[in-house]
Amino acid sequence: MSIKLFDLTGQVALVTGASRGLGQYLSRALAGAGADLILTSRRKEDLLPFICEIEAMGQRAVPVALDVRDQSSIEQMAEAALAAYGKVHILVNNAGCNVRKPAFEVTWDDWNLVLDTNLRGSFFVAQQIARRMQAEQYGRIINIGSVTSVFGYAGLAPYGASRGGIRQLTMSLADDWGRYGITVNCLAPGWFETAQNRVMYENKEWVEYLVDRIPLKRPGEPHDLDGAVVFLASEASRYVTGQTLLVDGGISTGAMRATINKHSANDSDIREG
Ligand SMILES: NC(=O)c1ccc[n+]([C@@H]2O[C@H](COP(=O)([O-])OP(=O)(O)OC[C@H]3O[C@@H](n4cnc5c(N)ncnc54)[C@H](OP(=O)(O)O)[C@@H]3O)[C@@H](O)[C@H]2O)c1
Repeated sequence: MSIKLFDLTGQVALVTGASRGLGQYLSRALAGAGADLILTSRRKEDLLPFICEIEAMGQRAVPVALDVRDQSSIEQMAEAALAAYGKVHILVNNAGCNVRKPAFEVTWDDWNLVLDTNLRGSFFVAQQIARRMQAEQYGRIINIGSVTSVFGYAGLAPYGASRGGIRQLTMSLADDWGRYGITVNCLAPGWFETAQNRVMYENKEWVEYLVDRIPLKRPGEPHDLDGAVVFLASEASRYVTGQTLLVDGGISTGAMRATINKHSANDSDIREG
């Protein structure tokens, strides 16, 4: 019974931005639970090695080109996705980008790039795919958010605005589309090392600072998102919609110590409250 709740056999999952990074982590988890996949990238050929990997796992995977900043590309992708298997049960809105800059240095184009990709793109991909889900009266939409969906970080103003928007969008769409049997949730990863943020992980001092602020004392690792994405994609989450699930080692707890000495055995002596 409990295993069946998480079984995705016979389900088709569309994962955007699957050419690298988290998109591949999430795709592997869904394929591992039995789903067949539709994978997207702006350059379809970049998906071919990963398609082979998924097929070696025993699942089917179809590559489709998608630029989420281009409306006609979204429409064509939705047509191709439907043509591939006839149905899409699960959408993971993962494609995204970031521009790290102090707020004074953010340009008009930086803002548009991040907001158009992360927020507008996610909405119109969801709209196209939900139309197909509506006909089936079933769907699972998982929007990828971030710790910045719920927290402010210096240097991430446009990104944080886009991810906060994703959280709000998730709630609105959950209310709009619940009547069609479609759940919409936000999966918000913490800090995972990928191409998008590799430059940060090259700085040892920054990594120590980061790890110190994460209650579980390490950045995210590839399989850390497996349980959450399969949960949100499966029957197990059938009565969960509009929610943001943070998978972040606890950094969204605030990670501000209320004691003076970092690792003191006598911390209890100096607690405030
Ligand atoms: N890494 C983290 O710690 C972290 C934490 C929280 C949330 N996130 C979010 O999770 C998602 C994946 O992150 P990542 O770290 O794996 O990033 P990544 O390595 O930079 O991968 C980004 C993916 O998005 C796709 N993409 C970018 N712009 C696109 C566009 N205009 N149209 C279509 N696809 C586009 C890329 O595909 P192509 O270049 O092949 O087209 C690529 O597959 C992003 O939305 C990111 O913001 C990441």
